[in-house]
Formats: sequence, structure tokens, C-alpha cells
Amino acid sequence: MSEEKMETGDSTIQPSKPESSSSPGEAPWVEKYRPSKLCDIVGNEQTITRLEVFAREGNVPNVIIAGPPGTGKTTSILCLARAMLGPSYREAVLELNASNDRGIDVVRNKIKMFAQQKVTLPPGRHKIIILDEADSMTDGAQQALRRTMEIYSKTTRFALACNASDKIIEPIQSRCAVLRYSKLSDAQVTKRLLEVCESETVSYTDDGLEAIIFTAQGDMRQALNNLQSTFQGFEHVNSENVFKVCDEPHPLLVKDMLQHCVVGNIDEAYKIMAHLWKLGYSPEDIIGIIFRVCKNHDMPEYLKLEFIKEIGYTHMRIAEGIHSLLQMSGMLARLCKKSAEPNVLAS
Ligand SMILES: Nc1ncnc2c1ncn2[C@@H]1O[C@H](COP(=O)(O)OP(=O)(O)OP(=O)(O)O)[C@@H](O)[C@H]1O
Ligand SMILES: [Mg+2]
Repeated sequence: MSEEKMETGDSTIQPSKPESSSSPGEAPWVEKYRPSKLCDIVGNEQTITRLEVFAREGNVPNVIIAGPPGTGKTTSILCLARAMLGPSYREAVLELNASNDRGIDVVRNKIKMFAQQKVTLPPGRHKIIILDEADSMTDGAQQALRRTMEIYSKTTRFALACNASDKIIEPIQSRCAVLRYSKLSDAQVTKRLLEVCESETVSYTDDGLEAIIFTAQGDMRQALNNLQSTFQGFEHVNSENVFKVCDEPHPLLVKDMLQHCVVGNIDEAYKIMAHLWKLGYSPEDIIGIIFRVCKNHDMPEYLKLEFIKEIGYTHMRIAEGIHSLLQMSGMLARLCKKSAEPNVLAS
């Protein structure tokens, strides 16, 4: 959309879109709604409470926060540093992430230099070195950190964030308190989305929000991004628009396909699969969504377990590199066969 104003001289012409708070040049909502206080962070209450205690009483240990993407790790560390250091934040925090060079030389020079600098802080407060996305640091750089962490422990604390804590070498883990974040629940994401919808005056339907929750799978960043893209692309958030933006197979189609399998109607099930295939979705996309839909599908429990087993086998074959429609159709045939078999548990 062009931002240029047209001089038409006709005062009756209205802008095509009202000047809303979501003009294209504005910051993405993930940044606009990044919590700035620990108490605003959604979910993982116990861990956040621990961080709040650290912030209040000072004397933080070195910490590692590990967990899936978009759950608030970076945000928590920034909030913690801000709460602890307040006005001294600028001189007492060194923030390095995967976009900075963090090879062994940086540990030897930059981190050490920062740790040696003198900054006057209230008692119980320490300088903080934030190493975001620490799982991408090389082993060498992590090794070089070991002694640095100990030597400067009187004045400096380390806060690491990562997705996979096993990529952090054991000796570093042993020097830190490891806090784990889990994915956010659907209710937690919904609550936050509703708040954002209200303050951005987003027009939405319930099924639109459900669709966003379904595609985000507990990742708040993705949920907010999908909400913003759908709203800015279509000006209305309903499930159809969400799936256009997110470009995932529509779960309702997949649900129908599974239901056809449950009643043993392979022809109809195949039609939907062929349709999805023609739309260009990859087998990984399709199988992933089949699993997620099947988990919540209303069907007999024993049959659901059998279905999930079959879906799992097919996923494995796809992961091994067998990417064909025939393979996917074979799965449908097996699912239909499972439905036709008598329930051995009930007999
Ligand atoms: N628990 C949360 N409460 C509120 N907003 C959140 C939460 N988690 C993530 N967000 C939103 O998502 C954005 C990204 O969060 P953040 O950078 O903390 O993710 P992360 O856990 O560090 O992810 P990554 O592993 O990808 O670095 C934030 O700006 C915020 O808008
Ligand atoms: Mg992060």
C-alpha cells in the first residue's frame, strides 16, 4: 500500500483506509507488546516467580533459561536485568546474541573486558552479561567462559537463554541455575491475543482466534505475528483468512478426511488428500496437521490410538525420504482398514 498522499484538490475524497494504529511503518506487534516487566509475562508462573524473587532480593545466580521459541526467554532476561539494575542498565549490562560474533576471541576480549570494568552498583547487585541464543556458541567459546565465570563471580553474573540446553556444555550448566520454560497453553495465548485485539481494535471471530492458536502451537511470537499479518492483509480475522496467511492445510478439510477414514470411505478420503497434494503442500506439512487434528478428533479411543500409530509410521517413512502421494494414500487405506477391524479390546 502506498503511503504517498495524492493531491487531488477534492476535499470529499476520504482515505481508503481509516488511519488506524496499525499503519505499515509501525513496529511489529511482537515488539510493541513485548512485556517490560516480569509480572506481565504470560505463563511459566513458577519460574517467573523465582526470577521476581531474584529481582527483588538481588544476588542472582548465573542462570540458563531453556525452552521452545517464542515463550518469553529473551523477554524474561531483559525484564530481570531492567528490574535489577534500573537506571544503571546501560553501563551494567552486556548483551550478546547469535548475531554477534561470539567466538573464543570475543570471550577472551569483550566479555573479559566488560567483566573487569568498574561500575558502582547498590549492594547485592551485579553486572549482567546476557548471552542470548547461547546454544549457537561454539564449544571452544563455552570452554573459554568457564574460568571467566568463576574469576569475576564477585562482580558479574551471566544469564544465558537457549532452545536446547544439551547444546550448553556440562561445566557451564553446573555453574548455573537451569530454568526451563514450556510451551504456553492455548488459554494463555488466547488471553494475550484478546488483549492485543482490544487495544488494536482488531475485528475478529472466535474461529479466527482458534485458528491462530491452532497454527501457533504455544508460540506467542508466532501467534502475534499471525494475528498481525491476517489483520493487515484482510482487515478481518476469521479462520479462512488465517489459513490463507499461514498457508497450512485447512484443519477442517483434514478433519473431514479423517472422518471419512473412520467410516471406511477411502474414495472420499483420497479425494481430499489429492486436493491437498494438488495445492502443493509437502508431505511433512500434511502429516503434521493430520496428527494434530487426529489428537483432538472425536472418535473411539482405541481407534484413535491405532490411527496415531499409523500416522507415526507414515511420518517416519516421510522422514526417511519417501515423499509420494502413493505413500500418503497407503496411509489412508490402512486407516480405513483399522476402522473396519473389530475392536479387540471390547471383545
Ligand atoms: N510469555 C510471554 N508473555 C507475553 N508475550 C510473550 C511471551 N513469550 C513471547 N511473547 C511475545 O513474543 C515475542 C518474542 O518473545 P521472546 O523474544 O522472549 O522469545 P524467546 O523465548 O526468546 O524465543 P527464541 O527462543 O526464539 O529466542 C515478545 O516480543 C512478546 O511479544
Ligand atoms: Mg530469544
